[in-house]
Amino acid sequence: MLLIFLLLLPYTSSTSSQLYGVKTWKLVEAVTSAYHGDWDHSYRTLQSNTRKCFELPYSLKLLNIEVEGCTPGKINRVVHRWLSGNRQNGNTDVEVLIDEYVIGDMLFSADTLYNQPLIQKLGLSTVSGYWDCWPSRDCYNKMVGRLERFQLDLEASQVELDNPDLILARESLLFKVKLQLEEYSKWYVRRLEYVNVVAYYGDDVCRMSIVDETVAEGWIQKVKTSDEKIRNFEEFFREAEIFYTPHHLGQMLETVESLRTTIQMLQEGRLVSCFWYSYTHNLGKDPPPSLIQDLTSAISSSLQPALERYLQILEHSMNRILTARHHPGPGVWDTVNGTEFYRYRILYHTTLDLTPEYIHKIGQEEVGRVKSEIREVVRRISESGDKSVSPSWPMQMILATLRNTDQFFYDIKNEEYIKGSVRKILGIINKKMTQAFTKEIIAKGSAALNIETESTASMGYYVESAGPDDNGTFYIGTGGNLSKLMMRALVCHEAIPGHHYQSSLLKSHPIFSKLSNARVQYSVSTEGWSLYAEKLCGEIGVMDEATHDLPSQYSMLYYHLGRLSMQLIRAVRLVVETGIHTQYWSYERAVSFFEHNTDLRSDLIVQEIDRYVTNPGQALSYYIGLMEVLKLREEVKEKVGRGRFDIKQFHSAVLLAGSVPLPTLRSHVIGLYQGGPD
Ligand SMILES: *[C@@H]1O[C@H](CO)[C@@H](O)[C@H](O)[C@H]1NC(C)=O
Ligand SMILES: *[C@@H]1O[C@H](CO)[C@@H](O)[C@H](O)[C@H]1NC(C)=O
Ligand SMILES: *[C@@H]1O[C@H](CO)[C@@H](O)[C@H](O)[C@H]1NC(C)=O
Repeated sequence: MLLIFLLLLPYTSSTSSQLYGVKTWKLVEAVTSAYHGDWDHSYRTLQSNTRKCFELPYSLKLLNIEVEGCTPGKINRVVHRWLSGNRQNGNTDVEVLIDEYVIGDMLFSADTLYNQPLIQKLGLSTVSGYWDCWPSRDCYNKMVGRLERFQLDLEASQVELDNPDLILARESLLFKVKLQLEEYSKWYVRRLEYVNVVAYYGDDVCRMSIVDETVAEGWIQKVKTSDEKIRNFEEFFREAEIFYTPHHLGQMLETVESLRTTIQMLQEGRLVSCFWYSYTHNLGKDPPPSLIQDLTSAISSSLQPALERYLQILEHSMNRILTARHHPGPGVWDTVNGTEFYRYRILYHTTLDLTPEYIHKIGQEEVGRVKSEIREVVRRISESGDKSVSPSWPMQMILATLRNTDQFFYDIKNEEYIKGSVRKILGIINKKMTQAFTKEIIAKGSAALNIETESTASMGYYVESAGPDDNGTFYIGTGGNLSKLMMRALVCHEAIPGHHYQSSLLKSHPIFSKLSNARVQYSVSTEGWSLYAEKLCGEIGVMDEATHDLPSQYSMLYYHLGRLSMQLIRAVRLVVETGIHTQYWSYERAVSFFEHNTDLRSDLIVQEIDRYVTNPGQALSYYIGLMEVLKLREEVKEKVGRGRFDIKQFHSAVLLAGSVPLPTLRSHVIGLYQGGPD
């Protein structure tokens, strides 16, 4: 449930048997016991799974269960309020609705990790009737039912007008619910991850911790019912196949390969030995022979044949996709209802109802604008006597120089040097923050940050903290060339004042933290802010301080070039994404546009385009978000009068709105300045 913010890599997700630092299983058990009125058991479950009161699961804190005290009465009150609430009459308390959403989301995720009969046994299916059906169509229909009711409740809910945070939270949730409603009722088949059934039946059993006998039985139940579950995946896949092009084959091949590995594991009896190992390791005794017999026969009668069947279906399908006569291009325009689908994706990822033509056009304008900014910096470099680049060169030659000069790159084997360099940059940034943020924001926004290196090709990414005892982490990718010129902007984006700042602020907010933990966040708001953070760093002098990681003949202006070349990549995304999905661009044309307009490495270009193909719309959120923050800044400046504009106040207004859709952000910020100092 960690949120990962990526700079240049496709969206990835991972499953985990832990949720907010406690075994999902135990959380489900606690909530369910509470539902059945067994508060004592609920309390004991939580107590015995957390060593101290202050380690109580973060999610329960989010549900208003005070960490201090750990009293069962509080668990009782909140969970009961959620479960039995004013269902029939419509709920009027927005906070209760948010809690309901959070719990619902948590249980829905829990179902992806644990088996249906177990959840049934726990009574969860009587709560809602649908936790046990994922990923069938029936399940999605029920999800739609839940969301429709939820939307009505939210719309009918009363918000005290003097609590702006609740108003924002309601708008944010309502917008998300509407998007989800459209997704679940119309577009769910197109979500490519359905193909990846292996994630739920593969080697995760070897990572699974069999902590007690109920969990052991649960696992066996999961294996016993896997045939039915995999049939659900197959049904989805049969419907989804018409949306696949040869450009999706890479992703399918990965699934096929993991399937083969998993089947081989089953043949070698590895699942049984992992089960055995985990059981004895955790329980201090051998599993009863009947349990092992049960597991073995569930594997041979249900899981293994089902996976073999699914593998065949995928292989045949890949063949059909490969040999189809008609391969128009990687875009969605050629698929059934593709244009409508793309409009939905634009709305989903930008929260604005923009046409692809409009985005394409402003993308081209912005590419031109950023290039002229680059040329301007090059002119200043050249005027200082440095002849490494010249403003009279074609843009491609300037960009190639940035890409091909060895001194502009870190030695990726020297991880300590890289981390040291990042710490120096953070030192510079932290000093500059007082120019742009209030003391309160700085204090809350600068929660402890880990810096790690990882051998991924992506330049870097940020992982949010999972709870109060965990820090956010900025990962630096050492799996490819790592540009010193870009590092400052990268730190500004992923760490401070970008993702880490925004995330720490959200996490310390009593209401917004609940939303962010239930993944009610908007890429356009988080990525837009972080791209704005890069630009802001350029404005307040972060690029102008020496850290001595470039040879002395190169001035600090090169860090500005690094930042601008990163902004250029994001502007290019607007053009290429919409080009692919609505203007019939071929894959080759997309690659060529990148090569001619950015200094991006060729392996990253391929990754970029694969991401547009498999996750349409997401890459638009960065620049669209940036433009909106800049537009708002200009409008506020005009409103209060340029001389009186206070940038710290403006940043507080934007950050303290939480992660909201752009129309909400706009009306909130403009509203704050209504009848302001002017
Ligand atoms: C395409 O859209 C129409 C109208 O909304 C709908 O009836 C149809 O089922 C859709 N087809 C697919 C494959 O999504
Ligand atoms: C970038 O990486 C490639 C291969 O990984 C290497 O050959 C090349 O020298 C690197 N370029 C720079 C400027 O470090
Ligand atoms: C989080 O940061 C604090 C302060 O820097 C540090 O004391 C603590 O050990 C860190 N926690 C983790 C889990 O890294």
